[in-house]
Order: sequence, then structure tokens, then C-alpha cells
Amino acid sequence: MPCRLGVLVSGRGSNLQAIIDKSKFGEIDAEVAVVLSDNPNAHALQRAKKLGIEAHYIDPENTKPVLIGKAEDNYINVLKKHNVDLVCLAGFMRVVKEKIISEYKWKMMNIHPSLLPSFKGLRAQKQALNYGVRFAGATVHFVTGNVDGGPIILQAVVPVYQDDTEEILSSRILREEHRIYSEAIDLFAKNKLKIKEGKVFIKEKNG
Ligand code: GRF
Repeated sequence: MPCRLGVLVSGRGSNLQAIIDKSKFGEIDAEVAVVLSDNPNAHALQRAKKLGIEAHYIDPENTKPVLIGKAEDNYINVLKKHNVDLVCLAGFMRVVKEKIISEYKWKMMNIHPSLLPSFKGLRAQKQALNYGVRFAGATVHFVTGNVDGGPIILQAVVPVYQDDTEEILSSRILREEHRIYSEAIDLFAKNKLKIKEGKVFIKEKNG
């Protein structure tokens, strides 16, 4: 049985698209069971529906960028209803809190467009350019109460060039995001990820 994914999105949905494409082509041992968004106009919702995947807007009931209270319960209930094994945050623009995190302990991942622990938070690519780093990248990590600070699963590195704009650097990083998010999901689906002392270990083929 493929691993059942619940993907939380707020916008464009290119990471969601990459995950759906790889699952449909059998490149990962997972399938998208449901897509949930806090934004009724998220393009990600259209992408999923077009491909026959259940996708819903669920009112976050909060003007602050957090998922708490009754809305948090609503998200959990729908994820449970779809028997989700792994929750993937893919451009979900809200901080998730204790309840949903403990419900999906070590079963929730996020993708962030920087080499964590550098440049947490919003506009990570812009932060990297402003700092003047020579290399940037993307990180897939497990979600804990420490925002953008959970144990790292996979990272990818890209060069930063002097004439890069935020847009150019973001698209270079995004190509890597699409690759490593699916890879991390596949490792989880194949039960190859172990957490020990706050770090992720990837089991070898025969390990
Ligand atoms: C990505 O850069 C991701 O790393 C960040 O938000 C962006 C979402 O892009 N968390 P998309 O909606 O997947 O196209």
C-alpha cells in the first residue's frame, strides 16, 4: 500500500505538483490522499482537482498566520478521515502548533528554501542574497514546535551568483525543492528514516 499523503498548501503549489507527478509515475511509494488549503484561491487547489485529487479550502479562522483552535481540529479531522500517514507542508503559510504536531509526531514534514539553520522564516532566498552567501539551497525537515528548526532529512545546495535576483535564485532553489521533497517522502514511505537524539538517520538499503 502506498503511503497516504495529506498536503497542506497556501499558494502556487509547484511542490505539490512535483509530488503528484512523481506519485502518478510510480517514482515514489506514496499517493496524495487529500490537499488542504487555508486560502480559497490557492492555485494548488486547482492543480489537485484537475488531477482528480480531493482538495479543500478549510477556513483557518484566524487573521494571524497560525493554525490553532477549532480550525486546527477541523484540519486534523479531515486528515484523519482520509487515513493520512504523512502530512506534508508545501508552502503552507501558517505556523502549526502543538496539537496537530503531536497528532502527527515524526509524521509531518516541511520544505524550506534555505540551507537550515540559516535563514529561517519568510523570504529565505532574499535573506541569503542580502547576507551575500556563496551557496544557498533547500531543506526538508520534520516539523516540531521549533519553527523551521526540526530535524533535517535532506538538503540540496545551489550556487549563488553575483548578478542573481531573488527571482532567479528562487527558481534555481525550487528545482532542487521538487527533487528532494519527493525523495524525502519516498524514504519515509519505505520506512528508512529513524530519529535518534534529535537527528535523522537514513537506513541503508539492507539496514
Ligand atoms: C517554496 O519555496 C517552499 O520552499 C516554501 O514555499 C514555497 C512554496 O512554493 N515553503 P510552491 O507553492 O510549492 O510552488
